Amino acid sequence: MKRSRIARILSGDEVGASVTVEGWVRTRRESKGGFCFIEVNDGSCLSNLQVIAEERLPNYREEVLKLQTGSAVRISGTVVASPAKGQRVELKSETVEVLGWSDPDAYPLQKKRHSFEFLRTIAHLRPRTNTFGAVARVRNALSFAIHKFFQERDFVYVHTPIITGSDCEGAGAMFRVTSLDLENVPMVEGRVDFSRDFFGGPANLTVSGQLEAEVYALALGDVYTFGPTFRAENSNTPRHLAEFWMVEPEMAFCDLDGNVELATDFLKYLFSYVLDHCQEDMDFFKRFIDPSCVERLEHIAAHEFERLTYTDAVQILSKAKESFEFAVDWGADIQAEHERYLCEKVFQRPVVLTDYPKIIKPFYMKVNQDGKTVRAMDVLVPKIGEIIGGSQREDDYNTLLERMRELGINPDAYWWYTELRRFGSAPHSGFGLGFERLVQFVTGMSNIRDVIPFPRTPGNVSF
Ligand code: 4AD
Ligand code: MG
Repeated sequence: MKRSRIARILSGDEVGASVTVEGWVRTRRESKGGFCFIEVNDGSCLSNLQVIAEERLPNYREEVLKLQTGSAVRISGTVVASPAKGQRVELKSETVEVLGWSDPDAYPLQKKRHSFEFLRTIAHLRPRTNTFGAVARVRNALSFAIHKFFQERDFVYVHTPIITGSDCEGAGAMFRVTSLDLENVPMVEGRVDFSRDFFGGPANLTVSGQLEAEVYALALGDVYTFGPTFRAENSNTPRHLAEFWMVEPEMAFCDLDGNVELATDFLKYLFSYVLDHCQEDMDFFKRFIDPSCVERLEHIAAHEFERLTYTDAVQILSKAKESFEFAVDWGADIQAEHERYLCEKVFQRPVVLTDYPKIIKPFYMKVNQDGKTVRAMDVLVPKIGEIIGGSQREDDYNTLLERMRELGINPDAYWWYTELRRFGSAPHSGFGLGFERLVQFVTGMSNIRDVIPFPRTPGNVSF
């Protein structure tokens, strides 16, 4: 008998076929006429497959009637059109094999709704719930769409390193990677002797693949990375993780305008892709998580983003009647509350802010003619705030070195990076999209810890 997935069967293509399905029992209820209904889910889609198990099955009394939520089963039978409303097909079973029992008194997932806080404590079981199954499938679809978008545009996927000897942003706190014995650390003149560490010098987990992506962009033209990144900031917010995935395109011969255009096209493409390919899961999010999530994506996919400079944004914010927690002065960082105000209250759409003061941005951003601002770009969306951060890169060798010294960064540590500006330097740009913030925005899930399978946050590294 042919093994089949429930998503296929429910599409209606297999009516009349003999199939085998494998999955987990969601519920079972007995009917009067000597049979029972088993609702089976195999993770291929949100819906369960309704299975009819009749009394004549040899293990009906001994096993089928004892099936409870959570048990693993293998069921073979015939797909038939369903007389019940709300479903097109059901499975008339010939055999029901119980592969793994689940004790109903001990199994933590019951039919009632559980809080997301509770589900975080059982991250090994939460993918079996409707919400986490849907998140996993949307996450998968978005990953695929990201590769599809770039591959269709001839970008080359580059694998940048996870362990690095350099600190991309010169700011973000990093996780140290070491094989030194922490109980007995080698010291010279009162300091840790990293020359005796694994790499012969200090090493960290990367905060971004950007610097290495720039190397490849200045050889292959258009490239992108998509991998895990790590930040050791003690940020306990619904938008921060210590380990998150970032998508970073980097384009040679591209200026800030080209960068903004790509970022806009990229987000619209991803939203349209999800609307086209994840309908059932998106309907679920609309019904149970965020009533406006589908409409929001449709609206964004069909409209222009608002683009303005940081300076103009500060003007708008300083005139706002809203009482913000953080003051808005030219030169201060724009906070999430300001970002959301601009998107939600002022423009009601995504906003691209450009040309930030150089004092609040990293060394690698191209300095504007005014000498005060840099060609930075952040894309802000309602509910989340910053979802993308990027810039045109400083391609002038001397200006770059000057910027590094200004910020107390030793250019020698980045000799390979600065050398790109000595040999065939070219204008180039790129950005980073926080993948979990994207999944959050699309699904309407309010906490970032619920859109990554195993969240890593301060004090939490379980599972
Ligand atoms: O703005 P960021 O720090 O930019 C960079 O790392 C650049 N090197 C990117 C580039 O130009 N290639 O981070 C990019 C995005 C943010 O806009 C945000 O969406 C996400 O990464 N992000 C986080 N997501 C989850 N948890 C955190 N702690 C995050 N920090 C940043
Ligand atoms: Mg940023």
